[in-house]
Amino acid sequence: MQQETYNYRVVRQFAVMTVVWGIVGMLVGVIIAAQLAFPTLTDGISWLSYGRLRPLHTNAVIFAFGGSALFATSYYVVQRTCQARLFGGPLVGFTFWGWQLIIVLAAVTLPLGITSGKEYAELEWPIDILIAVVWVCYAVVFFGTIVKRKVSHIYVANWFYGAFILTVALLHIVNSMVIPVTPTKAYSLYPGAIDAMVQWWYGHNAVGFFLTAGFLGMMYYFVPKQAGRPVYSYRLSVVHFWALISTYMWAGPHHLHYTALPDWAQSVGMLFSLILLAPSWGGMINGIMTLSGAWHKLRTDPILKFLIVSLSFYGMSTFEGPMMSIKTVNALSHYTDWTIGHVHSGALGWVAMVSVGAIYFLLPKLFGRPAMYSTRLVETHFWIATIGVVLYIASMWIAGVMQGLMWRAVNADGTLTYAFIESVERTYPYYYVRLLGGLLFLGGMFLMAFNMVKTMAGAQSADDAIHAPAAH
Ligand code: HEM
Ligand code: HEM
Repeated sequence: MQQETYNYRVVRQFAVMTVVWGIVGMLVGVIIAAQLAFPTLTDGISWLSYGRLRPLHTNAVIFAFGGSALFATSYYVVQRTCQARLFGGPLVGFTFWGWQLIIVLAAVTLPLGITSGKEYAELEWPIDILIAVVWVCYAVVFFGTIVKRKVSHIYVANWFYGAFILTVALLHIVNSMVIPVTPTKAYSLYPGAIDAMVQWWYGHNAVGFFLTAGFLGMMYYFVPKQAGRPVYSYRLSVVHFWALISTYMWAGPHHLHYTALPDWAQSVGMLFSLILLAPSWGGMINGIMTLSGAWHKLRTDPILKFLIVSLSFYGMSTFEGPMMSIKTVNALSHYTDWTIGHVHSGALGWVAMVSVGAIYFLLPKLFGRPAMYSTRLVETHFWIATIGVVLYIASMWIAGVMQGLMWRAVNADGTLTYAFIESVERTYPYYYVRLLGGLLFLGGMFLMAFNMVKTMAGAQSADDAIHAPAAH
């Protein structure tokens, strides 16, 4: 009798595409960083203009790179922890090819200037419909696998992945409600300030659920696995889950301080953002403390270094975020590069580092190798990535605070001390440093691709048989 195996094919596909899209998305990031440092770089070529490449960058890194990492790891984790093959048969392959098609459509339409103009939701309505279809299939596969699980307990990582999948479906569908006019143009169903509120309810929860909850699911599986230790406190992980998902939903208005949004709504956003510090740090501490008794492994294991340093950046950005949500602080930080520094301490430091760590964990297992082709290259990747992030975020923090202070400086007679252009001139040195940081981070991704190809080249078949319920 043939034994049932896990479906690793789709995990392999998404894992490889995580590295590919990581390189593409970050390359576009480096190009736009270069455009800010050298503004005439691509003059005259409309589809390479900053306004078109910027959304291409954000879509590619968040949805193509981050999304592929989330698909790969959630499909792996849900199977291993449920001791069951993925539910859904052909639906599984459809989620892979459908998601890749969406990415390609984004890569074509955005440089052509076809956009809804809503940040992180730029794709036009026909693509939005395709996203909704693929996402619903993803939910069917994921929750179907949970239903057919052979162990009664649902491991906490699946709670985070599940919340991420359900919430993103809700956010995407509600925020994409439009009246189509042509195949490439539609108008939002919501008027004025309500449209802004819905957009930032979406935008902030895209951060909370796409860029946070899903990656916390990753953290709760891969940190204990790589450390060879159980989660520090399972009870804390459950409290962390409920506290985080019940708080995030209310924090969106901190993106709309001092706008037409009612003042009370802004204050609610600020209050919930401050409360959010507690569950965020609870989760971070739970992850880092999982290393209790295994700290020495950090010295020799670069994959663990990626995972633990990502948690430190998670802690940093979730301390900074609540501070920036305080109205008086936001009056200084908003519109400045401080926000960009905050974004990338979360996006590069947390999201990219934890994904890279998890994919390094997976690759040898998926391709039947004892370890990555070169552990030394993983170590080199870790160091240049870390230096890259630090250069990126430190330069943007300094630039941002400088800009904020220059814009608000007034002379004794009430006139502005600086013209806007002076703040731009003073920012150039920091843009060069950011570009260098980005180049280093991108260089690390190329090392990863090389290491991956070498690991795959020596591949043997690696489809594990599903054993009786016990360990995973
Ligand atoms: C090599 C790595 C990267 C470089 C060089 C880079 C560079 C940039 C640049 C230059 C901008 C525009 C800043 C501005 O408008 O002033 C930007 C925006 C952004 N990037 Fe990146 N990026 C990188 C990686 C990532 C990753 C991995 C993510 C997410 C996982 C990410 C998410 C974002 C987001 C969300 C924005 C928009 C921020 C906002 O509107 O406030 N980036 N990036
Ligand atoms: C407790 C957690 C967090 C809070 C309370 C928070 C709060 C904030 C605040 C106040 C802003 C500035 C809004 C503005 O002035 O326009 C902001 C921007 C942003 N944050 Fe966070 N943040 C948190 C964690 C994170 C994490 C972990 C990430 C990434 C993984 C992240 C990604 C972003 C992005 C992408 C933006 C820019 C949005 C835009 O304007 O395009 N945040 N956040």
